[in-house]
Amino acid sequence: MSMRPAWGPKLFLMLVTTTIVIGNYHRHRERTHLREQLVNGHKVTRNITRLQEEIIANLPPLRIPRLRHHRVTDWDPYFENAEGQGINGSQNVALHLGATALLDCRVAMLSGKKVMWLRRNADWASLLTLGNTTHISDPRYSISFQYPNNWRLAIAGVRREDRGLYVCQVNTHPPRMLVTNVTVLAPDIRIVDEARHELRDRYYKTGSGIELACVARPSCPDSRIPHPVWRKNGETLPDHVDVYHINGSNEDLVTKLYIEQAKKTDSGEYSCSVSQFSTAAVHIHVLNGEKQAAVHHDQWNAARTNHHEILKNLCITIASFLLLRAWIISSP
Ligand SMILES: *[C@@H]1O[C@H](CO)[C@@H](O)[C@H](O)[C@H]1NC(C)=O
Ligand SMILES: *[C@@H]1O[C@H](CO)[C@@H](O)[C@H](O)[C@H]1NC(C)=O
Ligand SMILES: *[C@@H]1O[C@H](CO)[C@@H](O)[C@H](O)[C@H]1NC(C)=O
Ligand SMILES: *[C@@H]1O[C@H](CO)[C@@H](O)[C@H](O)[C@H]1NC(C)=O
Ligand SMILES: *[C@@H]1O[C@H](CO)[C@@H](O)[C@H](O)[C@H]1NC(C)=O
Repeated sequence: MSMRPAWGPKLFLMLVTTTIVIGNYHRHRERTHLREQLVNGHKVTRNITRLQEEIIANLPPLRIPRLRHHRVTDWDPYFENAEGQGINGSQNVALHLGATALLDCRVAMLSGKKVMWLRRNADWASLLTLGNTTHISDPRYSISFQYPNNWRLAIAGVRREDRGLYVCQVNTHPPRMLVTNVTVLAPDIRIVDEARHELRDRYYKTGSGIELACVARPSCPDSRIPHPVWRKNGETLPDHVDVYHINGSNEDLVTKLYIEQAKKTDSGEYSCSVSQFSTAAVHIHVLNGEKQAAVHHDQWNAARTNHHEILKNLCITIASFLLLRAWIISSP
């Protein structure tokens, strides 16, 4: 009987410490992540601003007398290929996955000013080219000047993530911009389980059945795509893995993969693709019976976060209980 009250506070202290440590670790991770985002975001903006300032500082002095000022606007650079020939312009370009993008920017009346290409979205921008030189290290991008005035940006082997806004900018004051909206026509591809949840990692017990579906949807309603193809670790599937093609709802094409009795050797990366560039992948882990706790949790990370959450809540519950108990015991 006399043992009990001595144990309570010790356990309580231990649990409280564990709770605080786990809580702090989570907050620390969030803060680090936020800081990284902020730092990276700032750098890009600063670099571009500095570059623009440099360019503006190096402008040649104005040669035309003030009296003829109205003529200057007539002679200022303008975009030939922009709709409406306003100061700024826009154009749309749709490309198939893997194609080479040629983004034209025809500038008339450039008269010594510089032309640059920028990639831009809501919260960042990056310099791709300036004059005849390419600034981005990705070798897929290049500037190829076409006589007489086309500052053409080429992007080889277009990828899904290349979609977005590209700005051709002339360093007048204020700058003139031709915005090109690039759309990439690529099938949407996903690997899902029986409940149609998207998968990345999945755990199975040896001997259990594996069923995965790969769903591909064409990027536009009229285009036709072949059924998706499954591979294991980048190679053809082993013989004991079955595959069925199904015509899904709407225009979806579905290829299902079955393994009747999973073995440890069935672990690996299973990928599903429609073309060279349109691929989704899932990691399958087949575990021995004794590791049942991990089996059938979809996302390992999600599962781990949940465990932390549960542990934390459990700690708080026990701590509260012990606190209450200690209080009851100590009160007269
Ligand atoms: C900014 O410019 C410096 C060189 O001036 C370069 O080393 C750095 O990578 C650039 N940062 C970004 C985010 O482009
Ligand atoms: C052109 O775009 C730039 C940058 O967005 C802006 O500063 C400028 O006012 C625009 N000019 C016109 C006439 O819309
Ligand atoms: C660089 O750009 C100019 C136009 O300003 C063009 O005439 C020239 O041929 C280009 N040089 C190279 C090496 O592409
Ligand atoms: C670019 O084009 C796509 C597809 O046409 C459209 O969904 C998107 O809103 C456009 N983006 C902008 C910024 O206009
Ligand atoms: C799926 O549809 C195509 C035509 O869109 C048809 O040729 C094919 O036989 C169908 N396959 C199945 C399994 O229904």
